[in-house]
Amino acid sequence: MTQRTALVTGGTGGIGSAIVRYLARQGHRVATNYRNAEKAEAWRKAMADEGIEVCMVSGDVSDPASSEVMIQEIVSQCGPVDILVNNAGITRDTTFHKMSYQQWTEVLNTNLNACFNVTRPVIEGMRERKWGRIVQISSINGQKGQYGQANYAAAKAGMHGFTISLAQENAKFGITVNTVSPGYVGTDMVMAVPEEVRSKIVAQIPVGRLGRPDEIAHAVAFFTGDEAAWITGANLAINGGHYMGW
Ligand code: CAA
Repeated sequence: MTQRTALVTGGTGGIGSAIVRYLARQGHRVATNYRNAEKAEAWRKAMADEGIEVCMVSGDVSDPASSEVMIQEIVSQCGPVDILVNNAGITRDTTFHKMSYQQWTEVLNTNLNACFNVTRPVIEGMRERKWGRIVQISSINGQKGQYGQANYAAAKAGMHGFTISLAQENAKFGITVNTVSPGYVGTDMVMAVPEEVRSKIVAQIPVGRLGRPDEIAHAVAFFTGDEAAWITGANLAINGGHYMGW
């Protein structure tokens, strides 16, 4: 397997950590961004204890200027980015009639506008080198909507619109662009949903349990391989059967 540089945004989070681990174990150089230096250092040490060295750069993906500096730093530390996983995401759940403009924009900026902010500085290099893999981490709730998540569902649905347009524009340049749409995975984000609400959600999952982060990472890695060159513009739902739209 060719060793490449992979950037996983939000790599210190639940699904992000699993993606970083998976790509690193495949032999790639993996980079991620952080905003909280103390939390990042503890995470970096824990990964190093597992034998995984991660290139860590400060950067806020919701901010275009910060993202640009972050990419320059990653390129100088670990080389040009060949694999990009737009994974960073947040929730600000509340019913729409109570939602503030801030709750709307924070979610749109971090989940959707970040795809512009981070992909824009790496796409030209991928086109020049005639190779690239871009994966958006969307959500089941971008596909089916979710009570209390008008902001998040709009951003996550938008991510796949981004995927299918970039897939068309960059196919000739050896770049594939795909989406992975996880269902409810046992991460801090999902565990923050009140227990009584969460148990009703789990009851709707045919497989009968929350997903595991490594089950998402496995699919991301699949899209990033050389063998996946003919898969572009796809959206892979990984949700234990919770939503089976096609
Ligand atoms: N369908 C219909 N009615 C629902 C509902 C649903 N899915 N969920 C809640 N309701 C109803 C309640 O039964 C209640 O009704 P009554 O007033 O008649 O008793 C009412 O809505 C409560 O409404 P409120 O506006 O007062 O809501 P709240 O402030 O108590 O909380 C909420 C609403 C924040 C949306 C809360 O229900 C919640 O956290 N829901 C879970 C949202 C969720 O799934 N988030 C996913 C986070 S993880 C993630 O995003 C990762 C991923 O990609 C999957």
